[in-house]
Amino acid sequence: MLCVLRAGEVRFRRLDSRDRTARLAHLTRLEPEARRARGLCARNLDPPEPPLAVGAFLDDRLIGTSELYPVRVGTGELALAVEPAYRRQGIGRALFERALALARNRFWRELFLFFAVDNAAVRALLRTRAARVRLEPPEACAVLALLPPTPATWALELLDLGELWRERLRGWPCAQLAQARVFAPF
Ligand SMILES: CC(C)(COP(=O)(O)OP(=O)(O)OC[C@H]1O[C@@H](n2cnc3c(N)ncnc32)[C@H](O)[C@@H]1OP(=O)(O)O)[C@@H](O)C(=O)NCCC(=O)NCCS
Repeated sequence: MLCVLRAGEVRFRRLDSRDRTARLAHLTRLEPEARRARGLCARNLDPPEPPLAVGAFLDDRLIGTSELYPVRVGTGELALAVEPAYRRQGIGRALFERALALARNRFWRELFLFFAVDNAAVRALLRTRAARVRLEPPEACAVLALLPPTPATWALELLDLGELWRERLRGWPCAQLAQARVFAPF
């Protein structure tokens, strides 16, 4: 999936364990408040591997992530981050929608999102969703009620998985051969 940005083209795809280095580098590029907002200690450079995550890439550089952590059966926690230089261009919302689709496809019923009370971006994201917000200044906790999956949520997940497979096959001899045949069929 493509989202046109002034800076270029953003691609979204599922992340796997091979993205760990890129993910850690992305986290270190966030400002301390954003790392805290994601539930990370500012100096914790070894955060747990998210079981489910989607990344936003610009020219092969990871610039945004949405991560899902199961809490208990049917319930999980969402952490979102977009690097400061790329905010307010729709990437956060795209990552948010993708995370909701992943959670719905697993029949989760509730998703927690912790954020700072004055976080206007998260409040804007929540405005379009059924969410109960509990304020405990300076923090807030939103509980999003999730609907069951639909063909649209499955399709969104498949698109992001397809992009991951495409990335992983890049460089395989068969993929190079297929590409060569496309460009030089004779
Ligand atoms: C939250 C975050 C991921 C949003 O990313 P983003 O790429 O800027 O988001 P978008 O551009 O898609 O904007 C989403 C909505 O927030 C609004 N918004 C974004 N930044 C805003 C700001 N500073 N003030 C007011 N509204 C803002 C946008 O207008 C948009 O609303 P709309 O879709 O109704 O027009 C990003 O701000 C971030 O990484 N923050 C630090 C980490 C964090 O707080 N994570 C959340 C807790 S886990």
